[in-house]
Amino acid sequence: MKMKKLLKYLETEYQKKTRQSAILFKRASRVMVRGGSHTLRLWKPYPFFMASAQGAQVRDVDGNQYLDYWQGHYANILGHNPAVIRRALEPYIKAGTFHTGFESSVQLELAEKILASLKQQGLKVRFTTSGTLAATYAVMLAMGYTGREYILKIGGGWHGASPYLLKGVKFRPGQGFNVPDSAGLPSDFHKKILITRFDDCDHLEKTFKKYGSKLAAFILEPFIGVGGFLFCSREYLELARRLTDRYGVVLIFDEIISGFRFCASGVQKLYGVQPDVSLFGKLIGGGQAVAAVVGRSEIMEGCEKPGARKMRVHFEGGTFSSHEEYMRAGLAMVDYLSQHQKEVYPYIGKLAEKLRQGIEKVFKEEALEVVCTGRGNEIVKDSSFFMVNFPKKKIAHKNPEDVWDPERSDVLLREEALKLALLINGVHVVHGGGCLSTAHTEKDVEKTVAAYAEVARIFRKYL
Ligand SMILES: Cc1ncc(COP(=O)(O)O)c(C=O)c1O
Repeated sequence: MKMKKLLKYLETEYQKKTRQSAILFKRASRVMVRGGSHTLRLWKPYPFFMASAQGAQVRDVDGNQYLDYWQGHYANILGHNPAVIRRALEPYIKAGTFHTGFESSVQLELAEKILASLKQQGLKVRFTTSGTLAATYAVMLAMGYTGREYILKIGGGWHGASPYLLKGVKFRPGQGFNVPDSAGLPSDFHKKILITRFDDCDHLEKTFKKYGSKLAAFILEPFIGVGGFLFCSREYLELARRLTDRYGVVLIFDEIISGFRFCASGVQKLYGVQPDVSLFGKLIGGGQAVAAVVGRSEIMEGCEKPGARKMRVHFEGGTFSSHEEYMRAGLAMVDYLSQHQKEVYPYIGKLAEKLRQGIEKVFKEEALEVVCTGRGNEIVKDSSFFMVNFPKKKIAHKNPEDVWDPERSDVLLREEALKLALLINGVHVVHGGGCLSTAHTEKDVEKTVAAYAEVARIFRKYL
């Protein structure tokens, strides 16, 4: 009842300031499913429609300004529309950006840069245009290489809408993460996708003991994104490496969020654990559609020379793969981060810690308990992520169950009420938080903490 009243109040306030967006959404709903193309962007009652974005700010069609922590699905580490990328693209755009369908040398430069950052011998790269495709191809390569059909993934792990990995994404009360997530797949498909618990060494050992010899791949995010902005322990990653080696399983690190986010390489470099295949996306495109599968040559060769008796894995990056414009943007981003890593990562890491502490403090002042996830650990010092959780029990928020089980955490308060309450106060977040960019300033963080304080007062009044 209290929550209903709160949501009603927030929706009314939001509607008052977003009338033009409401009109556009109504129009969009007539021609598009639920009015858009990405469910996460279509929050209730409707999303605002963006007019422009620059640095840390987004302006909507009603003229409202928001401090944005979504930053292009976490792709924009330099903020929206950064000059570094614009400068790199300007001459190319002047000359014409249309797709040619030919190879250009820029992709090879980007591939070289990514490989140089990993400092691991014997790796090869192939580009595609989305993380979903990269994850799909990586699983196909693993299956082709091992001749096995089972995949192990983490409960709460999101690797895009790849059919091979659409299980254990969404938490369902009473069932947890061990449930298929999509219609449209053969009915027993999900039986070959096995789920293990994030950062749980015991469960991993038991699962490998039982299924190790059937597994083609174990795929995980060393820093889990949607699952709660949590870092694996080194012990867990090392165990994953040992077990996959012992059972001949391909170890895939999905670094689509973590790649170039915590250092100018994969977060695997900080952990000192090398997977067989890595997935990169988001940042390596500099705001354009780029993803990469980077893996040991003998596995990657599966898409061209799989050996005499095997069929090749049909990994074609797609019509727009390694589009020159995308590659130039990606190269500019990777170059910039490599050259400025000593400033970029400590800067956003410090800002994020200030924000996390500030948010926890203002909720405490209103006697509301909040736990911010996203903090780094002894390995990753500079984490630029934050997620605001409202625990219902005394829990540590160490795994996706803690973040997504409505018995443990007030998910509705985070996902719906907090979202609208912050929008009303000029801040845009997803899942209660997001990431910092180099475009965010100390002043922005102070303004954001003030917005969370206002939200805490509203919550206190209604709940
Ligand atoms: C860890 C991870 N893997 C894969 C994907 C899918 O990437 P894309 O949205 O580019 O298909 C995402 C998207 O957010 C992700 O966070």
